[in-house]
Amino acid sequence: MSLSIGIHDLSLATGEFVLPHTALAAHNGADIGKYHVGIGQESMSVTAADEDIVTLAATAAAPLIARHGSDRIRTLILATESSIDQAKAAGVYVHSLIGLPSATRVVELKQACYGATAALQFAVGLVRRDPAQQVLVIASDVSRYDLDSPGEATQGAAAVAMLVGVNPALVRIEDPSGVFTADVMDFWRPNYRDTALVDGQESVGAYLQAVEGTWKDYTEQGGRTLEEFAAFCYHQPFTKMAHKAHRHLLNYCGRDTDPTAVTAALGHTTAYNRVIGNSYTASLYLALAALLDQADDLTGQNIGFLSYGSGSVAEFFAGTVVAGYQDHLRTAAHREAITRRTEVDYAGYRALHEHRLPADGGDHATPAQTTGPYRLAGISGHKRLYTTR
Ligand code: COA
Repeated sequence: MSLSIGIHDLSLATGEFVLPHTALAAHNGADIGKYHVGIGQESMSVTAADEDIVTLAATAAAPLIARHGSDRIRTLILATESSIDQAKAAGVYVHSLIGLPSATRVVELKQACYGATAALQFAVGLVRRDPAQQVLVIASDVSRYDLDSPGEATQGAAAVAMLVGVNPALVRIEDPSGVFTADVMDFWRPNYRDTALVDGQESVGAYLQAVEGTWKDYTEQGGRTLEEFAAFCYHQPFTKMAHKAHRHLLNYCGRDTDPTAVTAALGHTTAYNRVIGNSYTASLYLALAALLDQADDLTGQNIGFLSYGSGSVAEFFAGTVVAGYQDHLRTAAHREAITRRTEVDYAGYRALHEHRLPADGGDHATPAQTTGPYRLAGISGHKRLYTTR
């Protein structure tokens, strides 16, 4: 009998601040309907000057270690596309902050917003090789586009940490997967830039092409039929994209694309992304968190996952919700992570957006802003200094 491997626990974290889209619309003159309805976003998380992908990742992961200990964790994979170093893996800082043993392998993965799905699948493979081990998978990103660009409305920040192991308490990950790669330039960030470049229309088209490609391969690999899924979690650069993607999938499969059918299939999966904004690698797993936290009993139900990373690589795979999963959720903590954010006005957001760590190699303390458990205290000799608050 094949092993049951999947997501044993899941925890999210997001930034210290939040900018409502009403404030962005008031600044740039956009009709608020464009944001609330057209792209399906209400607000976006903004990180404090002393937060980054490391502090978000550690904040998301620490509750997993508190609940399960670290004895079985021998691998930490951190997926990000807002990397802070070209050589050192951000997960090494996280490993130290959350107190993992030295007998751990740590690595960083990148392929735009798809990276965390690669991490999850690699983790399943590692656990299959040695079922005694668990893998800590973390998706952590700060999404940042140029001020006054079309992408500005689709920023955000979050991390999701997942403990992957045998006999998971939440979701069993199934074989097979449908995979798809196409060399396109829809979104990218050259090494010399702090902000991403995006061709929005190209990106929507490339995403929809990937939906078809992954589903075709998933079907050819012997996957489930559409009707076997109770819900679909999509990567959400903005939540309207999930609607576009599911409508496209239904259309591709020759099914009715009635908007109520689309909304029913997406269920609660857009609730966290709608108020957090784009969190790149974490976005798909925020959709899962929102679904598990809010849906009526999903025991034994199949969930479809569509992971898309610009450039582009995509994967469609299935998970089955495990009996008793509701006893292991962190719904209250997730809601707290979202409601505890302090609202900033447009000027405050702009100042945070323009904040950069000095690059002169000197000793610089960062302003103390975060009220989270970890902070980026400063930089000295080009080395980032992290502390527990
Ligand atoms: N009321 C309701 N809807 C409105 C509206 C209003 N007042 N004004 C505009 N809209 C709708 C538009 O019709 C459009 O809907 P559609 O996509 O269904 O046609 C939607 O709002 C967006 O309008 P658009 O003019 O296309 O906006 P934009 O040029 O500012 O671009 C994005 C929007 C999402 C493409 C842009 O923010 C972007 O590129 N974001 C980054 C996306 C990304 O990260 N991609 C990479 C990862 S997948």
